[in-house]
Amino acid sequence: MTREDLELLHDAGAFNPSPRQQTLYATHVPFDTMTASRGCERALAAALRRHERVALLGNSGAGKSSVIAATLHPLVEDLVPLPLPVAVERPEVAGDPVAFVRHLVQVVSRLVQRSVPERAGQARRIEKETRPKYKRAKAVSVAPGLVGISVRLAYELDAAVQEPSTTSDQVMDQGRQILDLFRADGLTPVLVLDDTDRWLSAPWLPDNRAVRSAFFATVPRLLAEELDSAAVIAVHPTYVDDDAYRAARGFLSRTIAVPAVPSAGAVAAILQRRIALALDGRGTAADPDADGVDLTEMLDSAALVSLFDYYTGRPSDVRRNLLLVVQAALTLAVDDPDAARIERRHVELAIAEGAG
Ligand SMILES: Nc1ncnc2c1ncn2[C@@H]1O[C@H](COP(=O)(O)OP(=O)(O)OP(=O)(O)O)[C@@H](O)[C@H]1O
Ligand SMILES: [Mg+2]
Repeated sequence: MTREDLELLHDAGAFNPSPRQQTLYATHVPFDTMTASRGCERALAAALRRHERVALLGNSGAGKSSVIAATLHPLVEDLVPLPLPVAVERPEVAGDPVAFVRHLVQVVSRLVQRSVPERAGQARRIEKETRPKYKRAKAVSVAPGLVGISVRLAYELDAAVQEPSTTSDQVMDQGRQILDLFRADGLTPVLVLDDTDRWLSAPWLPDNRAVRSAFFATVPRLLAEELDSAAVIAVHPTYVDDDAYRAARGFLSRTIAVPAVPSAGAVAAILQRRIALALDGRGTAADPDADGVDLTEMLDSAALVSLFDYYTGRPSDVRRNLLLVVQAALTLAVDDPDAARIERRHVELAIAEGAG
């Protein structure tokens, strides 16, 4: 690897520990591949297809969002992720079933409006002009979220979210109706509650423990009994001993723990994927999956061992204990006139300087 390539990786932010949500799935190396098992991504996808509610357990930075993004990525045609951010300024959404379902309806409304404004409008026109024909509309691909839904479904969702609903029963019915519309099209809507560690542990909330208790006392039961919906809920290990979380477990179908990155070879695979993506941006790697990049040209194998040792000595946290360190080591290598790749000394210095 030339110094030019090192600089390119640096400038491209190849090891950015917090990539944008839309690119997370491309950077993901399945834990199932790394651990040669089926216990993570495949287990999650299979459980969601069975309409289960899955608690995805992992520390901050372990890879929960990455696993979710890779399992529910735009090319998985039958699973439709409905990301449900729960606004911290409205904590009642976490603890009031009707407020929660109203929120779900609003989220679907935004996804439909944002993703398919012309499609929904077009569908309305088609429906008016040629009512019997519009059912034959072919699938369209939209992002983010509502990928591959048909024009007809976009139209039906658009109509359902606009239906006025005032009483609690009406709101609940509306939520169920929306989920049923996806199912009638052979799709599985998946409620994604991914940012829970942010909004359920937010230090600025007046009493975030109470919000968390309210959430676990309310939402899993609602998902199981009222909505009968597939869902994935990111769960931080610190929740596990909460009474409310224990009480919710009866409504959660299973827990999947995000595994640790198992070996130095698996670390290499993660870094290779990032390098391939960064170099592909320059147009040199013909294949975006060119994980055939020779990592040792960029990172000395002793440096890889140091990195893996550092990661295993701490709670599994790919963000802080791998990517931040390798990003800082890359900066040191770029600033080191004698270096043509990341050497062990760069990794050790990055660790000593507290990059992770
Ligand atoms: N299996 C993986 N393959 C490649 N990169 C990964 C993998 N798992 C995690 N990462 C990377 O590690 C970083 C942290 O992952 P992620 O954001 O998914 O963690 P998280 O568990 O959702 O953390 P938080 O609880 O803070 O939301 C991201 O940069 C992500 O790209
Ligand atoms: Mg996350």
